[in-house]
Amino acid sequence: MARSAILNVMVQAAMKAGRSLSRDFGEVQNLQVSLKGPGDYVSQADRKAEEIIFAELSKARPGYSFLMEERGAVHGDDDQHRWIVDPLDGTTNFLHGIPLFSVSIALERQGQIVAGVIYNPGMDELYTAERGGGAFMNDRRLRVAARSKLTDAVIGCGVPHLGRGHHGNFLLELRNVMGEVAGIRRMGSAALDLAYVAAGRMDGFWEANLSAWDIAAGLLMVREAGGFVSDMGGGQDMLDDGTVVAGNEAIHRTLLKTLKKPLPPR
Ligand code: IPD
Ligand code: CA
Ligand code: CA
Repeated sequence: MARSAILNVMVQAAMKAGRSLSRDFGEVQNLQVSLKGPGDYVSQADRKAEEIIFAELSKARPGYSFLMEERGAVHGDDDQHRWIVDPLDGTTNFLHGIPLFSVSIALERQGQIVAGVIYNPGMDELYTAERGGGAFMNDRRLRVAARSKLTDAVIGCGVPHLGRGHHGNFLLELRNVMGEVAGIRRMGSAALDLAYVAAGRMDGFWEANLSAWDIAAGLLMVREAGGFVSDMGGGQDMLDDGTVVAGNEAIHRTLLKTLKKPLPPR
């Protein structure tokens, strides 16, 4: 499978950061961990991975702008291009020795996501997508699952936790969805959740209170695998709105509707 020059740059950066994360994952107990907020840790490994990605991408494409989780917005001379980077998505998993975490890099051109890379070093799975060029896991082309009924579907979600998200809203959404589906999963890396939808491992996914770097690459991954993505209102404002619903056309449509089912009268 031939990759474009820009995708190669992104893959190199993601894999180099991934190797650094893998080394630190092996020594997770020895990491100096600082508390960013309850349940939301940021580690030395996280910052090191972000430095690697920043250095690699700046060297390959000087002037491009950045939006990175730790560094925030970096305005380059070229404001038509922006890298959107989460160096470690799934920090809580990482710190608990659960090998479900990822590096996520997206490239936005004139406000449109045109390339995405998600790398899970724990399983050595590399997900890549380019606008109009399809999505791949390692060398295998990806296609979203074909199941069309929610009753057969395994749906991923994000669960808000201490100090994060709207717990009441989530419980209503969960109540609506759990009675209609074959299974619900909470993986702990929104980037991987979307990659798994693209790979047909999960039939759908929803989550709220996300940041652009959690989902930018994953949104393209799902679209390029033939899937549908929207915000919870059914629009395309996911990066700013921080909500996402994903699946094949039928699952996306029904999941969107099911999430918003009104409460039955008492
Ligand atoms: C988190 C993960 C998680 C999601 C959280 C995110 P982080 O990112 O994507 O799956 O539920 O909302 O903040 O903190 O591990 O980079
Ligand atoms: Ca994240
Ligand atoms: Ca992160």
